[in-house]
Amino acid sequence: MFPIHFAPLQGFTESAYRLAHYRFAPGIDTYYTPFLRIEKGNVREKDLRDLETDLHFIAETLDGASTDKQGTNSKRKPYHLIPQIIVRDRAEFEILTKTVTGLGFTEIDINMGCLYPMQAKSGRGSGLLARPEKVREILDAINQFSSEKHVQFSIKMRIGYSEPNESLQLLPMLNDTSLAHITLHPRLGIQQYKGALDFNTFDQFYTDCKHPLLFNGDLANLQQIKYIETRYPKLSGIMIGRGLLANPVLAAQYAGIPCETPIDTLLKIHTEMLADYTGRLQGSAQILNKIRPFWTYTEIPKKIQKKIEKSRNLAEYLEAVNELS
Ligand SMILES: Cc1cc2nc3c(=O)[nH]c(=O)nc-3n(C[C@H](O)[C@H](O)[C@H](O)COP(=O)(O)O)c2cc1C
Repeated sequence: MFPIHFAPLQGFTESAYRLAHYRFAPGIDTYYTPFLRIEKGNVREKDLRDLETDLHFIAETLDGASTDKQGTNSKRKPYHLIPQIIVRDRAEFEILTKTVTGLGFTEIDINMGCLYPMQAKSGRGSGLLARPEKVREILDAINQFSSEKHVQFSIKMRIGYSEPNESLQLLPMLNDTSLAHITLHPRLGIQQYKGALDFNTFDQFYTDCKHPLLFNGDLANLQQIKYIETRYPKLSGIMIGRGLLANPVLAAQYAGIPCETPIDTLLKIHTEMLADYTGRLQGSAQILNKIRPFWTYTEIPKKIQKKIEKSRNLAEYLEAVNELS
């Protein structure tokens, strides 16, 4: 049985989602924040506010089961969150790493897979994979920070930006770097989500990678997870993104942990998030904009999906959602 990691998903797995998911859907080993980034020379405020919500929850649960105001079963695996950062050079790496460690986190994931053109074209995310000299600069900084500041870094990457051998060429450098694990999504940055997964390149990376390795990509049901488990028995885990947005109890089902149905769990997570947004955001239009994408990757009846998409206000939206229960 592999540990299941919940992939970072910008616009979806923010703290409201992560905490609601943790509360209602057991079985996740590690959550990741969507990438934290530099904006005008500093870490984006919004990303930091999001992290603080998690920190508050972690402090509350550490205080003891009795003070767990979320009502989470205290016998459960503790909530494990790794902040992810996106950087193009050592300077950005230092600002983000110092900020994140300053908050008390001792693990950081580096994004070398993002395909958003704004990031990739300026040499961040998957854009880094085509710039080995910049990767070297960042890996040197990783080695320095991990030995001096006792921070554990991991990398989440694609097999390349435009060529699959980019990851294989970087592998000796990665092998020489102090890393907790690598997560590999076997597609190119320029492929986005199109085309088949490149299992040939994953096979080679899997054979030569000296770090614990996680597989990520297109896993949406138990058969697919079992296939990866059988094909790659030496993996250290599996990371799932959209499959968990569609079926939030996929990890629990895989681990054989008793859980509610996917739709009941989705509705519970949704109710919790709506309450969170209602408490924090002003105006129903803002709340609607924030909550509506929740259903994007879910497998709900098409008719209801359409109604949700077309709803003009919160009342219409809730009427559509209520048809699911
Ligand atoms: C909407 C969306 C947002 C994403 N945001 C991030 C992100 O912030 N950091 C990251 O490393 N990957 C991000 N990804 C990539 C996912 O983490 C994951 O690698 C990808 O979806 C493939 O896994 P899956 O098929 O299990 O979803 C994002 C993907 C999507 C669809």
